[in-house]
Amino acid sequence: MGKLRAPSSCLLSCLLVLFLSSVSAVTDDPQDRQVYIVYMGSLPSRADYTPMSDHMSILQEVTGESSNEGRLVRSYKRSFNGFAARLTASELERVAGDKLIGARDYTSEGARDTEGHGTHTASTAAGNAVADTSFFGIGNGTARGGVPASRIAAYKVCIPTGCSSEALLSAFDDAIADGVDLITISIGGKKASMFENDPIAIGAFHAMAKGILTVTAAGNSGPQDSTTSSVAPWMLTVAASTTDRSFVTKVVLGNNKTLVGKSVNAFDMKGKKYSLVYGKSAASSACSAETAELCKPGCLKQSLVKGKILVCSSPGGLKVVESVGAIAIIYKSPKPDVAFVHPLPASGLPEKEFESLVSYIQSEDSPQAAILKTEAIFNRTSPLIGSFSSRGPNTIAVDILKPDITAPGVEILAAYSPDGEPSEYDTRHVKYAVLSGTSMACPHVAGVASYVKTFYPKWSPSMIQSAIMTTAWPVNATGTGIASTEFAYGSGHVDPIASLNPGLVYELNKVDHIAFLCGMNYTSNILKIISGETVTCPEEKEYQTRNLNYPSMSAKLSGSNNSFTVTFNRTVTNVGTPNSTYNSKVVPGHGSKLSVNVTPSVLSFKTVNEKQLFMVTVTGRDLDSELPSSANLIWSDGKHHVRSPIVVYTDAN
Ligand SMILES: *[C@@H]1O[C@H](CO)[C@@H](O)[C@H](O)[C@H]1NC(C)=O
Ligand SMILES: *[C@@H]1O[C@H](CO)[C@@H](O)[C@H](O)[C@H]1NC(C)=O
Ligand SMILES: *[C@@H]1O[C@H](CO)[C@@H](O)[C@H](O)[C@H]1NC(C)=O
Ligand SMILES: *[C@@H]1O[C@H](CO)[C@@H](O)[C@H](O)[C@H]1NC(C)=O
Ligand SMILES: *[C@@H]1O[C@H](CO)[C@@H](O)[C@H](O)[C@H]1NC(C)=O
Ligand SMILES: *[C@@H]1O[C@H](CO)[C@@H](O)[C@H](O)[C@H]1NC(C)=O
Ligand SMILES: *[C@@H]1O[C@H](CO)[C@@H](O)[C@H](O)[C@H]1NC(C)=O
Ligand SMILES: *[C@@H]1O[C@H](CO)[C@@H](O)[C@H](O)[C@H]1NC(C)=O
Repeated sequence: MGKLRAPSSCLLSCLLVLFLSSVSAVTDDPQDRQVYIVYMGSLPSRADYTPMSDHMSILQEVTGESSNEGRLVRSYKRSFNGFAARLTASELERVAGDKLIGARDYTSEGARDTEGHGTHTASTAAGNAVADTSFFGIGNGTARGGVPASRIAAYKVCIPTGCSSEALLSAFDDAIADGVDLITISIGGKKASMFENDPIAIGAFHAMAKGILTVTAAGNSGPQDSTTSSVAPWMLTVAASTTDRSFVTKVVLGNNKTLVGKSVNAFDMKGKKYSLVYGKSAASSACSAETAELCKPGCLKQSLVKGKILVCSSPGGLKVVESVGAIAIIYKSPKPDVAFVHPLPASGLPEKEFESLVSYIQSEDSPQAAILKTEAIFNRTSPLIGSFSSRGPNTIAVDILKPDITAPGVEILAAYSPDGEPSEYDTRHVKYAVLSGTSMACPHVAGVASYVKTFYPKWSPSMIQSAIMTTAWPVNATGTGIASTEFAYGSGHVDPIASLNPGLVYELNKVDHIAFLCGMNYTSNILKIISGETVTCPEEKEYQTRNLNYPSMSAKLSGSNNSFTVTFNRTVTNVGTPNSTYNSKVVPGHGSKLSVNVTPSVLSFKTVNEKQLFMVTVTGRDLDSELPSSANLIWSDGKHHVRSPIVVYTDAN
């Protein structure tokens, strides 16, 4: 497993898993610096855990000083984990408010974020509002996390080569014992694993059993189908989408024609035009023109590219720019919907623009161009799902729609560790950086979940998950193919305000999830690995996994040319007002036409917390074999619109 930053500068690197919490305590001391107690929950059981060095490293993080002699008053290491230290008011603010009330390390590197990814995701979930932030002026404004009042406990489980299952499970174990309220994990693989081999699914099951919601990233292996690595129904799985702010980097050619490319380019070339050289025309004798076009290492003649802007048909060329003495690069971008940071002046062009550039180069004796500094533009065509965002269908639990929701995850400016590189081989040190990935989308939804929990502290994980999913905005499926259907965005785009007032919720508890696992026909051995319990499945042979009381409805059918009937049984709980009446409405989606019947079609609730059952029957024939077919069920009392996507697909999808 690895971090889920979109693959441009695709280093596997360390990151923090974040667990949000709300604990800490204070005492006073009549000095300038006062003594404060930082409570970190229960002690890790690992034999190699040394509380003192962990506490020293947190202090170092907070004070920014390498020597903290005399600062640490006491390390608590018997009945609980924590420490007392002399801190100034602003240092205290950093501990209690910039957030970090605990940091645990499950690697041998120390809890400090040496990379930046963990700081970025943490500040997105819960960072304080900070005015005048930007990446060298780009994206300037006030940065603020989802819920600035919440506090963060960070659990570092990854090293540059990946994240171990053992570390992940230990982190879950400790976080649950530490009493966190919510878990957000921006870690995943290239595809789903069976639940019994998936440490995040197993850890999240235990968290769910203890009333803690786990929010996870869908993965960055899109746009191909069946790529999401987060598939368990007891987790909230987040896809990544664009916002209405896009970063563009213009390239002005010698003839003053402007090409619009993407990157986060803070280098100011002052509008000066430099000679352009296409890799193909600078091939060394070692390589063919085809390989040189990609600017592969060892393929370019330095004398022909020195001091010029290198043009490459792949971003792979970024690796050679410096070594061949070029000053900048323009490349054909395989992901033209995402602007990436690069350590030198660069712009990534979509295929069509790249072709215009090549024909310009070929038509001129001395082709030239200037790469401008990145501009932020208002983009009306949003939100769209990032091309990198992993897609469904769910390959493990085929009747559970995944991802569940989409949230901003493209070109996100958030806090960064100055120890880290803002891009691969970048020597700059920054406090804010622009990253893209489902890693960035996940903490947005964690922030929303934390927001909902602030208003309804007693709500179960499933109630929070349901509130977020049923109030999501419908997403416009502008693209074509499977990549722009519910398999990309699930229930839709997260709406923080609406999620506070869902009206009705679909509830699930541990018993329901165990019944679902029984319906998956797992052996008792596997059931024990996932749930940690000895489970006896009910005799009932006919349990249908599609009857899990999930806020979306999905069924995989075999064969596409038959007529079919599928049913979904659901129960909703009234969390709105007493004496309310909800009418059902069905809105068509895409793919083959689905006929949807809801019984009863009207639900009346006398009291809050009252539950009502209903059955959805979907019939149709000749299912589209290319696309899933969909509809939406909406329960409405006039004020609340409780929407569930209904998605039916076949083997052929
Ligand atoms: C960002 O900077 C530009 C140029 O200095 C300024 O016009 C704009 O108001 C700033 N935007 C914000 C949100 O601060
Ligand atoms: C491009 O624009 C610049 C600045 O406006 C101008 O000086 C130059 O002559 C123009 N070049 C061409 C080829 O039009
Ligand atoms: C707006 O965003 C869409 C979706 O990412 C993209 O296709 C389009 O090129 C963007 N428009 C501009 C002007 O950047
Ligand atoms: C979807 O796109 C169409 C065409 O641009 C627009 O009219 C409609 O309002 C959009 N719907 C949503 C929900 O954004
Ligand atoms: C479990 O087994 C039953 C009975 O053989 C079958 O109907 C059902 O489809 C199976 N469920 C799954 C998820 O494979
Ligand atoms: C379904 O029917 C269409 C048209 O009748 C045919 O082209 C296609 O091969 C059939 N598909 C299957 C899976 O039988
Ligand atoms: C689904 O609901 C219908 C109507 O209440 C009921 O007859 C049926 O037994 C339920 N099915 C399951 C599997 O619970
Ligand atoms: C709900 O309706 C019943 C019967 O009309 C009434 O007695 C009760 O007071 C109402 N409850 C509320 C909270 O309005």
